[in-house]
Parts: sequence; structure tokens; C-alpha cells
Amino acid sequence: MAAEKRENWGSSLGFILAIAGSAIGLGNVWKFPYITGMNGGGAFVLVYLFCIFLLGVPIMLCEIAIGRRTGKDAYGAFKALQLRRSRLANLFGVMLLASGIYLLATGGYGFAFITLVSALLLLKIGFAAVGLWSLLAAMLILSYYSVVGGWILEYVWKSFSGGLNFENVQDAGEAFGAFVDNPHRVAMWHLFFMGLAALMLIGGIQKGIERWSKILMPALFLLLVAVLIRSVTLSGAGAGADFFLRPDFSKLSAEGALVALGHAFYTLSLAMGITITYGSYLAKDRNIFSSALWVVLLDTVVAVMAGLAIFPAVFAMGFDPAAGPGLIFRVLPATFNHFPGGMGWLWAGLFFLMLTIAALTSTAALLESGVTFLIDQFRVPRLPAILLVYVSIGSLGLLACYSTTGWEHIPGVKSFLAAVFGGDFTVNYTNWFDLLDAFTSNWMLPLGGFFTAIFVGWIWTVRKAGRELRLGAGDVVDSNLITLLSGFAGEPRYRMSRNQGLTVMTLWGLLIRYAAPVIILILFLKAVGVPVGF
Ligand code: PFF
Repeated sequence: MAAEKRENWGSSLGFILAIAGSAIGLGNVWKFPYITGMNGGGAFVLVYLFCIFLLGVPIMLCEIAIGRRTGKDAYGAFKALQLRRSRLANLFGVMLLASGIYLLATGGYGFAFITLVSALLLLKIGFAAVGLWSLLAAMLILSYYSVVGGWILEYVWKSFSGGLNFENVQDAGEAFGAFVDNPHRVAMWHLFFMGLAALMLIGGIQKGIERWSKILMPALFLLLVAVLIRSVTLSGAGAGADFFLRPDFSKLSAEGALVALGHAFYTLSLAMGITITYGSYLAKDRNIFSSALWVVLLDTVVAVMAGLAIFPAVFAMGFDPAAGPGLIFRVLPATFNHFPGGMGWLWAGLFFLMLTIAALTSTAALLESGVTFLIDQFRVPRLPAILLVYVSIGSLGLLACYSTTGWEHIPGVKSFLAAVFGGDFTVNYTNWFDLLDAFTSNWMLPLGGFFTAIFVGWIWTVRKAGRELRLGAGDVVDSNLITLLSGFAGEPRYRMSRNQGLTVMTLWGLLIRYAAPVIILILFLKAVGVPVGF
């Protein structure tokens, strides 16, 4: 039977907007602005850009290349590219096995179990384990990301129905607390939100995700521009812009650099199988380099715009900024309510609508990595695959719905976790939500990124990956950057050196083989509490 031809994105623009849709999400709006404000404003943005180009872009290139080369889901792709048993995979497997046994001996049964399973997988299926790992990360993230999507829908609803008229942050905070303590309502919104994302996938790639991304991403942009203009034209807005962007190099720290690195990963949706999945639907004549650069540009521009939409308004209304959910669901509703002219509800509504879109396209991307896996590995038709992921991960998400305020709604889960991971576990992680977020962001994503870089740099090899990257990219990626940038490219005497030395391609190879693994490893060790010298 002839292999069925895989569907492709209809255009480069569609591909770019779809990946940008996965990248642009809550991270851009509730995290980037705050960490920037806290860590030195414009100075931090420079560090962040450095991280994005040093780590984010090279790994994104790897993921798209892995996907396009194989035309498969994340697991199938790693499996297909791994020609023979890899000694490196065995080495990592044995190292993990030893750590697992050590953990078992010291009594951390839960962690021991996770480590041992990962070790055995690595030993049994080699780097294909990395594909499974990233899929698992995507599904876990999906289960709670969609719950936040549900909260946002509630706030769209509340804005337009006049339910967000809070005098101060404390009132807004209490209302938010009461809402998330009503798990049935949260669960309803969560299932509804994930249902919307699932609907986006029904038409497949071109008629589903691509078509919706082409409508939703420009809409997001327009809404953001509107809120930004309103925000920066409020009187007293300057203080907010100042907090957000004024470079203050004295606030830059090693810690801040780590935050920037971690965020670079999260915001570009790397190590979750998504970019591999989306890359698997990319035609061979498309330019991977320019697509990745566009995505990074859009992601960064939206993050900066979000900061300019938020902080000038917050400061102009005399409030203090906060991070994460606190910023969005406590500070902002109170802020909007104080807008002059009594139109705060409208601006709040537009803002939450913008946020709905941002979260929706990210949720759809997460869903799609599970759906493509089922289609490619088990030949499940698209519709049942969507339903299967929706029902299973939607149900898993209920745990987050019923445990936003603590463990009291799910005592069975609490005692299970306490028994398996130790008594202080459920004290350190006060709810399922934080637990999943910490586990995926601090452990799964860095490890996934590390192994992706190792795999492409040393197993698949940069030469083969490079061949894939070259398709559709043109000669420029193999041109000597010094000759090119200094303007001597046309000179006959420089012809010999044109394809030597530092080219986009060799630079990428260096970053993937050395810089990315080392940097990620340091970040990871630091994140899990190993002292690494700073
Ligand atoms: N990149 C998204 C953001 O910045 O909010 C978050 C995200 C989406 C993370 C999808 C992971 C993911 F799979």
C-alpha cells in the first residue's frame, strides 16, 4: 500500500502563525512583563534576547528539522532518526538507573519510580524515550493550561456582564479566590475551553489549525494594540513604562539570567513535541530559518506589547504590579475598573478576549501533539483521536480544577502523593496545580531540551540535520558571515573563503553541540537546587 501523503501547511505564513500561536500564550502576558520589570527592565530584555538567540532559536531549528525530516509525531520522529542503538543513550540510561537505585535506597519512592522508569525506557528504546517524554510533558501541561483558559473565559464573561467592578486589589483577590474555590464552575469552563481548542483541530492542518491561526493571531494583535494604546495614553502611564523597560543594570543578576533562560524555553513552547509535530507538516521547500526567526520576533514583540498594555495602566491607576495569576486576576480587574470614563469593563473585556485567544492557540497546539501521536502511531482517525485526547486529558485537568486552593477537595490524591513522595511533599506543593507546573517547567522541559540538543548534535548529527535545514533556505546559511556582513562577498579574492569559517550553519552547530547542553544543564541543576557556583 502506498504511504498516504501527509498533509502540508498551505503557506509559510500559515505555518509561522500556527507556531507563533503555540508560542504566544500566558507566558508572554503574565510572566514576561513581570520578570522583566523585576530584573532590570531593558537590561533584562537584552539578556533575554541573548538567551532566545543562543538557545531558543537553535533548538527550535532542531525541532522543526526533526519533524520535517521524518514527517512524524514527536515519538515516531526520534524513533525514526535513531538508526542503531546509541551508546550515549545507554550511558544516560545507566546514570539514571544508578540515581534511581540511590533514590530507592534513601526512601524517595515516588522519585525513584519516575527515575527508574525513565532509565529503563532510555535503555530499551533509546532516544525515542525523549519523544515520549516530551509528549507526556505536553499532555501534563495541557491538563492545567486549559484550566487557566477556563478562568480567563469566566473573566471575559464577567467583564462584559459588569461583574468586575472592584474597588481595590483585595476585593478582586477575594472574588477570584471565591471563584476558584467553586470547582464545579471551574471544571465547566475548563471543559468548555478545551472543547473550543479541540474544535480548532477538527479540520486538520490546513482547514483546521492553519485557518484558525490566520484569523485568531491577527485578532489577538489588534486587540493588544487597542489595549496598549488606551493604556499608554492614561495620565501617569509613564511610571509603568519606566518600571517595565528602563534599563537598570544594577538589578541584573545571575539569578535573573537563569530566569531569562528558563523563560526562553517556555515561551517558545520548546521540548514539548509541539514544534516537532508542526514541523512534520511542513513542505520541503519552505525556509525553516526565516520561519523560526519570524516566530521568535512575533513572540518577543507580543511579550513587550503585553508589558506596555499592562504596567502603564497598573501604575496610572496607582496599583502595584504582581506576578502570574495575581497580576491577571487580582491587579488587572481592579485596575480596569478605575479607568476614566466608566468604560473599564470594555477594556477589561477586550484584554481578557485577547488573553483567551493567546491561551486557546497554545492549547490547540498541545492537543495536536497528542492527536498527531495517536494518528501516526496507532492509525486512529483524526476525529476519534481528538475525542480521546479531549476526554483523557480533560479528565486529568479536573484534578487541577479541584485543587487550586489546596488539597481539601481531593484528599485521596493528597494521601497517595504523601505516601509515595513523602509527607512534606504535599506541604511544599500546596496544590496539584503548582505541582504540575513545577514538575513540567523545572524538570521536564529542561531535560527534554537537553536531550534534543544532544540527540541532534551527536546522534542524528548536525551534518544530517543541516541537510534538512538547508532545504528551502538558500545559500546564505552557508556563507561566511564575516565576508557577507563586511560587504566583501562579491569580491573574487574572497570567493575561496565564502563557504568557510563562521556561517549561520556552523554557528548553529556549535550552539547545539556545546552551548545548549552545557547551559541547559547548569540551569537545570540550579533549578533543582544543586549548588553550581552562583
Ligand atoms: N509558550 C506558551 C506561553 O508562553 O504561554 C506556553 C506553552 C504553550 C507552554 C504550549 C507549553 C506549551 F506546550
